[in-house]
Amino acid sequence: MVDKVGVVGAGLMGAEIALVFALANKEVLLSDTSDDALERAIKNLEGVLQRGVGRGFFEAEQVEPTLSRIRTTTDLGSYSDRSLVVEAVFEDEAVKAKVFRKLDDVVPADCIIASNTSSISITALSSHLSPERRGRFIGTHFFSPVSRMKLVEVIPAMDTTEQTVEATLAICREAGKTPIKVKDVVGFAVNRVLHALVIEAIRLVEEGVATPEDIDLACRLGLGHPIGPFQLLDATQNSLSLQVQGILNEAYGERFKPRPLLKQMVQAGYNGKRAGRGWYKYDK
Ligand SMILES: NC(=O)c1ccc[n+]([C@@H]2O[C@H](COP(=O)([O-])OP(=O)(O)OC[C@H]3O[C@@H](n4cnc5c(N)ncnc54)[C@H](O)[C@@H]3O)[C@@H](O)[C@H]2O)c1
Repeated sequence: MVDKVGVVGAGLMGAEIALVFALANKEVLLSDTSDDALERAIKNLEGVLQRGVGRGFFEAEQVEPTLSRIRTTTDLGSYSDRSLVVEAVFEDEAVKAKVFRKLDDVVPADCIIASNTSSISITALSSHLSPERRGRFIGTHFFSPVSRMKLVEVIPAMDTTEQTVEATLAICREAGKTPIKVKDVVGFAVNRVLHALVIEAIRLVEEGVATPEDIDLACRLGLGHPIGPFQLLDATQNSLSLQVQGILNEAYGERFKPRPLLKQMVQAGYNGKRAGRGWYKYDK
């Protein structure tokens, strides 16, 4: 039974991963490299909860007790009583490796260590753990915003035990998520499906077949997608999609080759919503 959860990295993903476990009545310890980062994260979570109350996702009475279940620390040494630790630090193998080595020394022998990496092989990451820990190491790929997106891709590494897979699927369900088990391949499952669609959508625009607005309408009204591919590109930043497609292209070849128009958009600084212009124009 997982009751004490640790989350390492209090950025966009880690803070909300902490939140969903706290909402599921887990006692959460959230860490980052500075007190400032942790204060910012808790403030953001307060905002997420308040906005969620406004939209009817959470009850007003949940706000205080939920936040009180999240403690913060800059010291990974205090993770010695955790039963699950989810790593969500920068997407950099060297940074993650350092965190894993420290956690491996500190957490109990039966603690599961999970990584939220979106592009690094889970089996490659497991090499930074002792051979005794590797059976209890796994990928948990959450989606942004974590408090709203239901899916988690659960990715066993080469040595992950079936017991760890089952325990991880169970804790994801306890946190209100719907997990799916996915093999440790580049892009896992969701990014492969998404970028196949995105690349074809951009190709349609390049060929003058339809406008980005109309393709978004087609996906929403014809396929039942909640958001069109160009709206999604703008929301998540074109540069991030270009980077992911570069990784998929390297692994799978031509079928994931980024389209020239996406490269041009990024080079022009038309990066999406935050830049004020992407496939759409936004008031800053
Ligand atoms: N952003 C997304 O949509 C998304 C989606 C799925 C998965 N991911 C993955 O989740 C992970 C985190 O991404 P993010 O978008 O939250 O990044 P982010 O930059 O918002 O947050 C990373 C946080 O980790 C902290 N950090 C760095 N080194 C640390 C250390 N040694 N100990 C503790 N904290 C440390 C940073 O200070 C920062 O606050 C990455 O592996 C990313 O690929 C991101």
